[in-house]
Amino acid sequence: MREEDARESLIALLQLAYAAEKAAGYAYRGHWHSVVDADERIRLAQIENEEWHHRDLVGEMLNTLGAAPNKRLEIRAAIIGRSLGVLCHFTGWLAPMYGAGRLESRNIREYETAARFAAGCGHHEFVDCLLKMAEVEWEHEKYFRSRVLIHRLGRRLSLWPEPPPKETIRESFPRESEETLELIEASR
Ligand SMILES: [Fe+2]
Ligand SMILES: [Fe+2]
Repeated sequence: MREEDARESLIALLQLAYAAEKAAGYAYRGHWHSVVDADERIRLAQIENEEWHHRDLVGEMLNTLGAAPNKRLEIRAAIIGRSLGVLCHFTGWLAPMYGAGRLESRNIREYETAARFAAGCGHHEFVDCLLKMAEVEWEHEKYFRSRVLIHRLGRRLSLWPEPPPKETIRESFPRESEETLELIEASR
């Protein structure tokens, strides 16, 4: 992969993530208002805050790259996020927990991939922050999985694949980003 390609891929992925964090923020706001258990409300509100924080961090990276958020994605994210936030009040307890867990498992991989693209285009200063966000998403996935599994019906559902242990996010990174750099070198 050429350095310029890595940069373009990074920008596209960060634009997606920036919008997805907004959708998540709105969805979790509706979600925590819809549950009655006090501990669940606290944890979900905390997750909402973490998603808004991610959005700020991703926004700063886009800025550094001289790129802007994607307007179409931003509008779509607002509609999806707000709709999901409202839906949480009608779907019952299990569906939002299940849907969130599934989405969070994808978020982990997205930030890991973004970290590799960042290293691939020389933006090493983004790597630690992107991996940290992948780790936070890993915690989110774990939480939603644990919620689904306390539900009698949830235990009988087939769940999304379980992510590898949290440590592997950092362990696998140097090796894989070295491979990405070798590919960039080879294409020069
Ligand atoms: Fe996030
Ligand atoms: Fe998350």
